[in-house]
Amino acid sequence: MIRVPQLCLVALVGASGSGKTTLARTLFRPGEVLSSDAFRQLVANDENAQDATADAFDALYHVARKRLARGLLTVIDATNVQVDARRAIVELAREFDVLPVALVLDLPEDVLIARHHARTDRTFPDRVIAQQVRSLRRSLRGLAGEGFRQVTVLRSEVEVAAAEVQRERLYNDRRDLTGPFDVIGDVHGCADELRDLLGALGYVVHDDSTVTPPPGRTAVFVGDLVDRGPDTPGVLRLVMGMVRAGTALCVPGNHDVKLLRALQGKKVTVAHGLDRSLEQLAGQLPEFRRDVMAFIEGLVSHYVLDGGHLVVAHAGLKAAYQGRASGRVRDFALYGETTGETDEFGLPVRWNWAAEYRGDARVVYGHTPVPEAQWLNRTIDIDTGCVFGGALTALRYPELELVSVPARAVYAEPIRPLVPATPDVTPQQENDELLDLADVTGKRLIETGLRGRVTVREEEAAAALETLSRFAVDPRWLVYLPPTMSPSETSTRDGVLEYPTEALDHYRCAGVTQVVCEEKHMGSRATLVVARSAHAAQARFGTRDGRAGVVYTRSGRAFFEEPALEAEVIRRVGAALEAGGLWDELATDWVVLDAEILPWSFKAGELIRRQYAAVGSAAAATFPAEVQVLDAAVVRGLPLADLLARTRERAGLTGAYVDAYRRYVRRVASLDDVRVAPFHLLASEGHVHTDRDHQWHMGVAARLATADPGLLMATAHRAVSLDDDVQVAEAVAWWEALTAAGGEGMVVKPLEFITRGKKGLVQPALKVRGREYLRIIYGPEYTRPEHLERLRARGLTAKRTLALREFALGLEGLERLVRREPLRRVHECVLGVTALESETLDPRL
Ligand code: UTP
Ligand code: MG
Repeated sequence: MIRVPQLCLVALVGASGSGKTTLARTLFRPGEVLSSDAFRQLVANDENAQDATADAFDALYHVARKRLARGLLTVIDATNVQVDARRAIVELAREFDVLPVALVLDLPEDVLIARHHARTDRTFPDRVIAQQVRSLRRSLRGLAGEGFRQVTVLRSEVEVAAAEVQRERLYNDRRDLTGPFDVIGDVHGCADELRDLLGALGYVVHDDSTVTPPPGRTAVFVGDLVDRGPDTPGVLRLVMGMVRAGTALCVPGNHDVKLLRALQGKKVTVAHGLDRSLEQLAGQLPEFRRDVMAFIEGLVSHYVLDGGHLVVAHAGLKAAYQGRASGRVRDFALYGETTGETDEFGLPVRWNWAAEYRGDARVVYGHTPVPEAQWLNRTIDIDTGCVFGGALTALRYPELELVSVPARAVYAEPIRPLVPATPDVTPQQENDELLDLADVTGKRLIETGLRGRVTVREEEAAAALETLSRFAVDPRWLVYLPPTMSPSETSTRDGVLEYPTEALDHYRCAGVTQVVCEEKHMGSRATLVVARSAHAAQARFGTRDGRAGVVYTRSGRAFFEEPALEAEVIRRVGAALEAGGLWDELATDWVVLDAEILPWSFKAGELIRRQYAAVGSAAAATFPAEVQVLDAAVVRGLPLADLLARTRERAGLTGAYVDAYRRYVRRVASLDDVRVAPFHLLASEGHVHTDRDHQWHMGVAARLATADPGLLMATAHRAVSLDDDVQVAEAVAWWEALTAAGGEGMVVKPLEFITRGKKGLVQPALKVRGREYLRIIYGPEYTRPEHLERLRARGLTAKRTLALREFALGLEGLERLVRREPLRRVHECVLGVTALESETLDPRL
């Protein structure tokens, strides 16, 4: 039985004909074995093409690297009887921090020669085999010295035939343990505080070494149990007892390892509190000291827990090292990496690996005392400097709650004072100051809670980045962009393209029973991020522009060109939130609002002038003259009556067109002429309010409007039971009335913010636009039967899926914001919405 680590690099070693390829086939899975012959075949169409050896190995190593990077066991099937060949394999294993393993076939030479003669696929002379055998025999004794962590030699055909492989998990691989865990920071001999903390976590400490955890829970110590503090033996006795009883795991810290070396009698510099540990341990029985040595010696550099979602290491661990085994992985886990510089206190400057961390697993560590445990890119340092008079901290997992007890005394003076580097800014916010291009470029697959993976194409991501980086507001404010909205199915009713019946039917077919119809305002979409104060904004969003909020457009641009105007809007919306009691009710000091800002002309004035008014004025300038001339001609008896009628009709339709857009044009002299109509309160501290139905959201808008009717506007709406014919008829009549009075139309939403139907996620909203409003969109004469017929063929599928993808992305971004994930994770979604918006689609939908 050959035991190999689950993740290792196996070198088969043996002369030609020793049966490497044959054995590999029985012991390993097909994809795991990379054979030099197979690669010669691949690159040169010939297994025996010796001139292709370099290329073949090039390709083989390339594939091996891809596999090892993914953490997959890999076998290299080549003779490997030369020391150079093996050195390359050991180096490859080191590069990926996996264990190199040698599996040697050392068969009698006569067996090899006999097999060689029987083969038709090998043409070289016998002496090649003799040379290889000599080479192999010379190598045998040195294999362990070359770096192979495990060497197995099979010496006979019987041994080969009997060989089996058993894969063993690495010591650090405890993915099978799912917790829940309580990860405990650096204790440093603070036994009293450890007992306090265990108590606070619900553990019952019976005596100096017996502890009962709350049902199912396991403690995990991040190491540095010893040194500096008053009772290192007490801490060791407790932790060793727990580990022995299976109620705790423990990884070693640098202090623990140094103490071990000192106890082993090795020469170490006695500093940094080691003297205290040695003194305290001198008063203990020799058996206890032996137990301590065995305990520390047996500790594994780090643990990968809970299916790979949690990693615990004393000084943390970068993603590429997790679940790997090598000297440098152990060193990293114990000491971290340093930059080579020293700071003003003479201490080595630690390389901030966590700032670059992009792994999926959460990493919990200690080692560097910090004033407060704070997340940074899914990593958290929970060494809150208990021995320096700080606190002893635990992280509950998976709850991600921090539990701390204060130090009872200052047991040691820190060399570097325990103060935050930048007050008022979290490490994550500081880290988010600098965005990384690599986080937003290239093809992106964005995991959303609502709709699985949303794909963003590389060129769309690039376009979005261009737009956002050139035009958008400060990225720290840019936390959400709204999705596009699809129209209802095209109506077949005379004279209209859109009609409420289709929207209501759409939801009924999707299995929805309750909808809300909301009046659709004709203005411009805006996102408002509003904080209770500039200080609150800074604390939450890391902004430092002195603003308490921003208002931005669908493309992320500042909505108001005038900063003073924006500040006033923010101030008044904030005051309305205050007056409406929403800050307190939601226990938040910031909100994200989705709103429409009116009038349309305020933001779209230029568009109206260039695109719509140009048509209107051309019509006004020509049609009266045309009609006059044609009239005169008809009076003179020319056969132009048809043309006259047609021109009159066109003049009339263009007049209707001008009336249509003029309805949404008003002069804005001051803020008094501007209205903000919020329709979703999307998020506040700790919550994305998608669990509230649209009645709630409308209610919030109404409360804000009551508080400041001069600026804020409620939205007329009505709830409709789709199986109630009277309510349905009333909703249709309401739309008729709204649009007859010049309204844009209405938006129909399922009552619930998020609805899943028979075919998955249901459209979050459908717009039903009025006949006259659509004249602006489709042109003055679109109501002529021939145009309507043509327009009815419009396809909605692309718009519909786009709307769902953007909806999922937008909410995913808010979920990430609320979970306080790194800004880049929020931006991934914002950028995704912008990217999807660059898909080519009929802009009139
Ligand atoms: P392999 O082709 O497995 O040997 O067997 P190898 O070590 O990989 O050789 P090279 O380095 O690629 O040249 C060689 C021959 O020996 C037979 C196989 O059928 C093949 O013809 N063989 C192998 C046995 O007869 N018995 C065995 O146990 C293994
Ligand atoms: Mg072979």
